Amino acid sequence: MDRNERLGAAAATMKDFVARTETFRTSAVKRVPTRSYTDPDQWKAEIELVFRRLPLMLAFSAELPRPGDFKAMDAVGLPVLINRDKAGTVRAFLNVCPHRGAPVASEGHGNCPRFTCKYHGWTFRQDGRLIGVAEASSFGAVDKAELGLRELPAAERAGMIFVSLTPGAPMDIDRFTRGYLDDFSALGLAEWTWLGSREIEGANWKVAIDGYLEGYHFASLHPETIKPRTPSNCANYESFGPHQRIGFPQRRIGEALGSIPRALWGEQENNGFDFARILFPNVSMFIAPEIAQIAQIFPGPTPDRNRTVLNYLRREPIRDEADREATEAAINFFRDVTYNEDYLIGLAVQKGLESGAHDEILFGRNEPGNQYFHDWLDWYLQDDSEMPEPVLVRSDEA
Ligand code: FES
Ligand SMILES: [Fe+2]
Repeated sequence: MDRNERLGAAAATMKDFVARTETFRTSAVKRVPTRSYTDPDQWKAEIELVFRRLPLMLAFSAELPRPGDFKAMDAVGLPVLINRDKAGTVRAFLNVCPHRGAPVASEGHGNCPRFTCKYHGWTFRQDGRLIGVAEASSFGAVDKAELGLRELPAAERAGMIFVSLTPGAPMDIDRFTRGYLDDFSALGLAEWTWLGSREIEGANWKVAIDGYLEGYHFASLHPETIKPRTPSNCANYESFGPHQRIGFPQRRIGEALGSIPRALWGEQENNGFDFARILFPNVSMFIAPEIAQIAQIFPGPTPDRNRTVLNYLRREPIRDEADREATEAAINFFRDVTYNEDYLIGLAVQKGLESGAHDEILFGRNEPGNQYFHDWLDWYLQDDSEMPEPVLVRSDEA
């Protein structure tokens, strides 16, 4: 099935779910040990075997559109610098000066033809090569070719910049994304405008991810914001390797699609249904009609905390000052809802998980996305590529 057929089939399934008050169910309940969210050894293993090994979606093409644009950021405790050179090539480096370890660019976004370390002024080309050493005679024979910035594997695809946090690690984006990038290419993400970001703090990173993977909580947790548009416990799940596309039908899906030929249903995103796109391990993208919120959820400084960067993009560039103000207001609204409704319950959940009250938590048959995510996380933590990969099973019988 091509993308459009697949989206059309998802739309038809969602329409049927709403008509029958049904949802995608998997075959069994899954239990996850509570310590998976609290244990420091598990947390370290997740960082080593998942965050340091898999390609992470660390930036958008739209964040660095011009030659010389760069972004310096923290990624799971590592200082990372991503830049676009004169020819348009994107590279990533550890943002660490080879002299004595200072960052060569301050956190945030900027544009420059070369990087100058703030500490003693060594300078580096856009490709990371050392070009200038202040008081060079004090360093004897400096091998400039050897003393460059440490490069990280990076690839720009479908409007996104993937980086591996391990220098020299092999990175096969096509194998990792399993055809899902066609969806992002079709969205034209590369041409969208990056509007800004907000940072929030929450519980263990998986507590946060769990919240993005189901719509079972919409009615109770989001009675004012989501429930009026979207019914609870009514969602369709598709998988692309470890990644997922979750379809959330709107209450009006029957009416919205009723007047449209079936062949065009695949093109009706935001007209009757919406999607959350999940890139394993830590990205959740939700496209609303006015704006897209793309969350990057990173393990925080301790197992009980995550640091989430909420990115905001949309198709059209900012038109004028009034549009800019309205957009800032929309961004703050999305941030506030995410923090006040989802992240605050997450912090309370974390306290509950730490309390020792229960040895396990449960994911119902109606929470297949959470089950599939935890299956894949376990698969990566086993660190044995011979193990059969998890499969997303639909089993709707009551
Ligand atoms: S640490 Fe960068 S020049 Fe000294
Ligand atoms: Fe939520």
